[in-house]
Amino acid sequence: MALTKTIVEEFIRTGDMDDAGFLALLQTDAFDELLKKEADRIRRENYGEDVYIRGLIEFTNYCKNNCYYCGIRCGNKKAERYRLSQEEILSCCDEGYRLGFRTFVLQGGEDPYYTDEVLCGIVKEIRGRFPDCAITLSAGERSRESYQALFDAGANRYLLRHETADDVHYGKLHPAEMSLKNRKACLFHLKEIGYQVGSGFMVGSPYQTPEIILKDLRFLQELKPDMIGIGPYLTHQDTPFREFENGSFELTLRLISILRIIFPWALIPATTALGTIRPDGRERGLQAGANVVMPNLSPVGVRELYSLYENKICTGEEAAQCRGCLEQRVRSAGYRIVTHIGNVKR
Ligand code: 5AD
Ligand code: FES
Repeated sequence: MALTKTIVEEFIRTGDMDDAGFLALLQTDAFDELLKKEADRIRRENYGEDVYIRGLIEFTNYCKNNCYYCGIRCGNKKAERYRLSQEEILSCCDEGYRLGFRTFVLQGGEDPYYTDEVLCGIVKEIRGRFPDCAITLSAGERSRESYQALFDAGANRYLLRHETADDVHYGKLHPAEMSLKNRKACLFHLKEIGYQVGSGFMVGSPYQTPEIILKDLRFLQELKPDMIGIGPYLTHQDTPFREFENGSFELTLRLISILRIIFPWALIPATTALGTIRPDGRERGLQAGANVVMPNLSPVGVRELYSLYENKICTGEEAAQCRGCLEQRVRSAGYRIVTHIGNVKR
């Protein structure tokens, strides 16, 4: 199909396009400048210069899953494992609150240590101490009852990327015990319970094709998540995918712009993976339509160990103060960090 400027302008106006249009758009850089300019216009119309910050606490790198792309997969015997105690998590929150964070994101592998009882206990404690904060969980697939119990304990948001919306592709990225069907069921359970939900996928993961990315976009249109996180796939030597190359930075930026145009109100983070593949990746992500950054609040001593992929930024001693670093970066990109809770507008 010959993709014309008129067709792209129609997409920008309506926020949707037919399959052939998307497939063509995903495969050309001819409209990148236009997409970026219009995505930035749309983000400014809805959010002005505001960039939301979310304090990321990586509370465990134990994981019972064995996703082929991920450095903390259980099959990686080289990974040194850690988990944070309730006290350690709470002191991250204390520090975060002092720095102006009003959302805490507790992210971890699927670690059976955190039973409903343990995790609900932590959530309740945070809820009691920080009644004016949002609590976001990112702890993988759990039962509907578990999600409900965590919600009742005080969690408001849940991040669970669908990773890929194509069944066969899902099977190439994950062992047979995992399924796209279950992943989708989890996401719909979370929505039904009343969580604000974040989903997303990696750009350039092994075996991904434009047709598959199109399916990701269509799935997101069906799910209507509040947040959409995407970042380039990044190689990790201690995984079965060690021979695969990193995903494309340019395609990730193009997709951020496309997502902003399809979902004008979405919270779209400029992810750590984007900042890892390019030194100015997060700034460029913001300029392409992203409006969230997630500085690392984990204790510096464990940051290196939460190694989903190689060369992850914010792991060294110099990174004790991601908050300040990002403040600068956001400002240099032409935006400003806001510290209020940032409920999703609709
Ligand atoms: N490269 C980029 N992103 C990755 N993730 C996991 N492993 C990698 C990798 N090698 C992403 C997944 C997961 C999120 C927490 O990190 O999409 O959902
Ligand atoms: Fe962590 Fe810059 S954001 S060091």
